[in-house]
Amino acid sequence: MLVSATEMLKKAVEGHYAVGQFNINNLEWTKAILATAQELNSPVILGVSEGAGKYMTGFKTVSAMVSAMIEEMNITVPVALHLDHGSYDGCYKCIKAGFSSIMFDGSHYPIAENVEKTKELVKVAHAMGLSIEAEVGSIGGEEDGVVGAGECADPNECKMIADLGVDFLAAGIGNIHGKYPENWQGLSFETLAAVKEQVGDLPLVLHGGTGIPADMIKKAIDLGVAKINVNTECQLSFAEATRGYIEAGKDQQGKGFDPRKLLAPGAEAIKATVKEKMELFGSVGKA
Ligand code: 13P
Repeated sequence: MLVSATEMLKKAVEGHYAVGQFNINNLEWTKAILATAQELNSPVILGVSEGAGKYMTGFKTVSAMVSAMIEEMNITVPVALHLDHGSYDGCYKCIKAGFSSIMFDGSHYPIAENVEKTKELVKVAHAMGLSIEAEVGSIGGEEDGVVGAGECADPNECKMIADLGVDFLAAGIGNIHGKYPENWQGLSFETLAAVKEQVGDLPLVLHGGTGIPADMIKKAIDLGVAKINVNTECQLSFAEATRGYIEAGKDQQGKGFDPRKLLAPGAEAIKATVKEKMELFGSVGKA
């Protein structure tokens, strides 16, 4: 069932768990994530970056594929199709293409401009029945060529954006996209608590879910995080399993080169990663 993410994240805040956003790149990714969510009776958010959208030939293709898969695979758990780190134009494209949720990432604008653009998009998204995420304090690391320094969000700025009526908020707390470096300082729970104090029960979003230790994830959920984004970890699992298959020479045995066989271990690896995260986030059985 394709739905906005508002209801599932409200429930997550009340139930003290988080819903995973897993980014998709192609059919295999989407199929593996949907199958796992259904098997575990968990709500799920499919994240689509602008780069991944382009790779899949456009947001319309993605939207059509996801809607059709939900129907053909008999997926009954709540699924949100969400634009990840959207630009202003990208948000409008996804609203038109049939997404059920968008993120407007105005964190690189001066706060007044972030407020102005977010305000407009909140109105448009809500009028069309979509949920909307905004961002304050850029997430570090590299995502689709955009490099963020990983600053911690200013809680007062979070309140300004929260008051615009966004449905959930990404606040930088020292998290970064991709693998964490050896000398990473960890999440700033002080910032998270200060943000929570300002925004109350608004669901908070933790980007850069790859490689955050389980105890930090649990503490973040305790402090109001209700959505956790995971991308790189599925890519690493897929690559490792695919490498194993090829290094074992399996693509050269019989019809092992058939893409349905060649890509199967990678898809199974994505499923295992998604399962592990859903269990850690506490969303299993919460559909
Ligand atoms: P990772 O790639 O670090 O898991 O981050 C994903 C993310 O935050 C997408 O917005």
